[in-house]
Amino acid sequence: MIHVLIALSLGFLPLFFVSHKLGFPWFSSIKNPPTPTISTHELSIPTPDTVDLEDLNIEETMAFTPDAQLDLLFDPKIIPADVKAKLGDDLHLRPLARTDLQRNHLAVLSVLTSTPNLTPAQYSQAFDTLRSCPNTYYTVVIVAKATDSIVGVGSIFMEQKFTRNLGRVGHIEDIAVDKNVQGRKLGLRVIEALTGISESMGCYKTILNCSDHNIPFYEKCGFEKKENEMARYHNIAAVVTAPPPPVVEVERVVAPRL
Ligand SMILES: CC(C)(COP(=O)(O)OP(=O)(O)OC[C@H]1O[C@@H](n2cnc3c(N)ncnc32)[C@H](O)[C@@H]1OP(=O)(O)O)[C@@H](O)C(=O)NCCC(=O)NCCS
Repeated sequence: MIHVLIALSLGFLPLFFVSHKLGFPWFSSIKNPPTPTISTHELSIPTPDTVDLEDLNIEETMAFTPDAQLDLLFDPKIIPADVKAKLGDDLHLRPLARTDLQRNHLAVLSVLTSTPNLTPAQYSQAFDTLRSCPNTYYTVVIVAKATDSIVGVGSIFMEQKFTRNLGRVGHIEDIAVDKNVQGRKLGLRVIEALTGISESMGCYKTILNCSDHNIPFYEKCGFEKKENEMARYHNIAAVVTAPPPPVVEVERVVAPRL
């Protein structure tokens, strides 16, 4: 019996040697188990979003103003930290500031629609109007630190409902990215920041209106097309500043006793 076993082992030895050298799986895999393959997609580490001065066509540099030196619309801690972290060191995501007129806020918005020529006092008054409604208006801006200028902007306001168990809805408005730096994920970051704020404020949904050509952008941001938008425009004179609506005192008419 022992002779038979020795003869069989000696017979397989050359076959094992040849298979191992040629890399045939049935023997080589015993010694070298296959290593799991990782796709290049899984290996890639996302690079932070950046812009440079050439992109912005700006030669002059301005000292970056840190948040602590600004009068901000709301507490910057509300902006999700993970969205801020996706931006490179040259960009900063923060709430709108009272002095952002001088940082190109309206010039960036002008890629969306016409914007008025405001004085700093008028801009400041509009800022106060937003801030006079607590927990309602949130405008975020992305600032290019090298120029201390705004390159991306977006707003959300909160609607309190009676329906949906006294639910809240976040309405996104006025999304714009400087045309020189579009296509670098800054629009996406603005939307991520606003939807994060909406969620943290307890909104059960976030909605917006957009033109057909922007639908693919919002789909990339995780939105889906729902229903239709209806609009009716009113023939009012252009409002340059936005004072709070006047509170009309209605005289009570007491019904005479019969
Ligand atoms: C729309 C706008 C805000 C997008 O910002 P952006 O910084 O240029 O876009 P992003 O780089 O963040 O785009 C994110 C993704 O959406 C895609 N995308 C952006 N705009 C798109 C469009 N119009 N059509 C198709 N895809 C679009 C990008 O290619 C990118 O896709 P990827 O992740 O596969 O690379 C910007 O182009 C803009 O300011 N446009 C003018 C004003 C405007 O129309 N505002 C929207 C009002 S509703």
